[in-house]
Amino acid sequence: MATSNGLRVDMIIRTLFIALLAGIAFPSTCLAQTAREQARSDFAPYGSMMGTQFRHMKLWFAGKLGNWKLAAYELDQIERDLAAAALPSGAPAQESLVKRTQELRETVNARDWTRFADAYGALTNECNGCHRATGHGFITVQIPTSSPFSDQAFEDQVAEGRSLARRICGECHGLPDRSTATVARRFGAPGLEDVVRRPSFSEDSVRGLLTSNHRRLGPDQTMPNPRLTNYEIDEIVAYFRELRSGANR
Ligand code: HEC
Ligand code: HEC
Repeated sequence: MATSNGLRVDMIIRTLFIALLAGIAFPSTCLAQTAREQARSDFAPYGSMMGTQFRHMKLWFAGKLGNWKLAAYELDQIERDLAAAALPSGAPAQESLVKRTQELRETVNARDWTRFADAYGALTNECNGCHRATGHGFITVQIPTSSPFSDQAFEDQVAEGRSLARRICGECHGLPDRSTATVARRFGAPGLEDVVRRPSFSEDSVRGLLTSNHRRLGPDQTMPNPRLTNYEIDEIVAYFRELRSGANR
């Protein structure tokens, strides 16, 4: 009897174990599916408005900090979101919305901050116009005052690095995109394009060079410690990375 009892217990444990596994595998996928459907219906009737809200904010900071590639990207996403969604009932015709995004696009292409700010305001009014027309007049969007996305830098890291390098390093080093490249070379400093082609070049070595406290370097001992902040170093390293990929092409 002990054996058969042992078997029964064994079977019960095994059944429980299988049930447990199944419990983990199946209902959770079902739950995930319901959650997804729930999320979808939360955003109804007009696509993912929270997504649009995020992009609307990011678009502003991209434009404000002159990261026009990012601005164009966010605008693409807004246009895509708004075009993909079914029009809620009562919504004004899409034409004026399309017109507003097109006007904004032109200012992004022209990299024109002043006109961008105006066109952004006009788009924002258009957002609110539809909210009012569809019985959601209590939802008002506005120009954001500060970015809630503390994990995203809205500057273009490479562009910032290039302008830093032009300003600080360009005192001595020639930059490839600088018309005065030949004039700029001082103290026998190599052009930055030559620097990135050196076999000894690595991002770590530049980082080390820019973070260390040495004041002098090289045979002429003329490279001062530029005393950059960490994020400025990241920007210069990003610029060097781009220079290098250009140099290797
Ligand atoms: C064609 C109509 C229409 C346009 C255009 C529109 N919205 Fe909306 N928006 C709605 C409707 C309808 C709701 C309420 C239902 C929903 O959330 O989908 C809404 C909701 C919202 C919400 C509230 C989301 C929440 O759950 O808290 C925000 C924020 C928002 N919209 C931002 C924007 C922004 C930013 C723009 C412009 C870039 C915009 N909307 C353009 C129709 C529109
Ligand atoms: C006052 C002039 C001066 C300034 C400003 C300056 N450098 Fe230099 N740098 C030099 C000289 C001279 C050398 C050449 C030393 C040598 O050949 O070893 C050099 C060499 C270098 C090297 C090559 C090191 C190696 O191991 O080959 C790098 C990388 C470099 N500089 C980066 C920078 C960066 C980045 C900046 C701006 C943040 C900068 N430099 C600003 C004068 C300068």
